Amino acid sequence: MLSKTDYPLNARTLRPVLLSALVASTLALAQANPPAKPLPPGPMQPKIKAACTQCHAADRIAEKHFSREQWSDELDKMTTLGAAVPDSQHDAFLDYLTANFGPLKGVVRKTRKDAAANSDAK
Ligand code: HEC
Repeated sequence: MLSKTDYPLNARTLRPVLLSALVASTLALAQANPPAKPLPPGPMQPKIKAACTQCHAADRIAEKHFSREQWSDELDKMTTLGAAVPDSQHDAFLDYLTANFGPLKGVVRKTRKDAAANSDAK
């Protein structure tokens, strides 16, 4: 006969099972997003890697959330500093950077432009 404490699936026996499931899923998530590869894969990834990680780590790029316009300015700045971005690749670089390191989605941020636009409206 099974007494209450003998029953195998009570909360106490389930806890380690649930815990290890949680740990496993957390590990899986961490692996899906490894911090060591800040440049998301794609046809442009090797080109960006070659042109943009000679002087600094890719983190320098990945930590940014620039608009297309800002990335365009940034590309110009890096080209001036010595980055080799072929003219024919300029737009492709811009597409990759904006698509992967664009402005944060779902975050409302006041830019200086917004502030200027608001003060103009008054
Ligand atoms: C010739 C060396 C060199 C190359 C190549 C280079 N960078 Fe930079 N990068 C720098 C330096 C130097 C800084 C720091 C500039 C500063 O502090 O004003 C920097 C800083 C940055 C920053 C931080 C923002 C800033 O302006 O300080 C970003 C983003 C960036 N680089 C992106 C890129 C991208 C994208 C590429 C490839 C197209 C690239 N870099 C290639 C030298 C380089």
